[in-house]
Amino acid sequence: MKKKLSIAIDGPAAAGKSTVAKIVAEKLTYVYIDTGAMYRALTYKAIDEKLNLEDEEALLDTLLAANIELLPSENGQLVYLDHKEVTNEIRTEEVTNSVSIVSKHPKVREEMVRRQQSFAINGGVVMDGRDIGTHVLPNAEIKVFLLASVEERALRRHAENLQKGFPSDLDKLKEDIARRDKIDSERKTAPLKKADDAIEIDTTSLTIPEVVDKIMALVDERIG
Ligand code: CDP
Ligand code: CDP
Repeated sequence: MKKKLSIAIDGPAAAGKSTVAKIVAEKLTYVYIDTGAMYRALTYKAIDEKLNLEDEEALLDTLLAANIELLPSENGQLVYLDHKEVTNEIRTEEVTNSVSIVSKHPKVREEMVRRQQSFAINGGVVMDGRDIGTHVLPNAEIKVFLLASVEERALRRHAENLQKGFPSDLDKLKEDIARRDKIDSERKTAPLKKADDAIEIDTTSLTIPEVVDKIMALVDERIG
């Protein structure tokens, strides 16, 4: 039987992490884990409970009481918070613009990392986020750091919004993405950073299948 690997995919917002992670997981019949969805679910709950997002202890208490589940379905991964589906609710502009504040707190991250590591205990996972290669799965057999210019990333989100029929302002998207990247990269605990042993892939001018092929080539090298 082929060895089941752990694959870590990190990078800034809209670099294509979740899209390619999902495809790679399907190809390998591995579990896909979107760690950003977990921080988003907590942020959604914190906003709903009108918490002060700078109050680390209150956020930790809320997280400790929260049941966050990521369940695969035919229509992609579904996110459940306290047994209620919140897949779309966690993607609103309000949550997106607050999530980096919630995720900078060390005690919140410690509990999230504990949960994420428990999902990966038997290998056979593709996990995407900001600190997977550096902190969550430091021994992952494959680590990838996806990059793309901020212009290209804003264009991708813009196209996604228009396709869904949502209002979209390209300049604002660019600003929001750049601000979130800055907070994520500059926080003290587990900042967005390429692991020393990660392979960097600049996806600015690559298609999704091209990025997937590059990752699958790394997998083939590893398991033959
Ligand atoms: O999909 P998108 O790139 O917009 O973001 P996401 O992956 O859903 O992550 C949302 C936010 O959660 C990030 O901007 C980070 O603030 C935080 N996050 C984190 O701190 N660590 C992770 N492993 C994953 C996400
Ligand atoms: O998970 P992350 O925030 O890194 O990005 P994503 O949600 O997977 O991708 C953002 C958007 O870019 C999606 O609409 C993808 O279809 C698109 N994309 C692309 O156009 N070209 C790529 N090489 C990767 C993603």
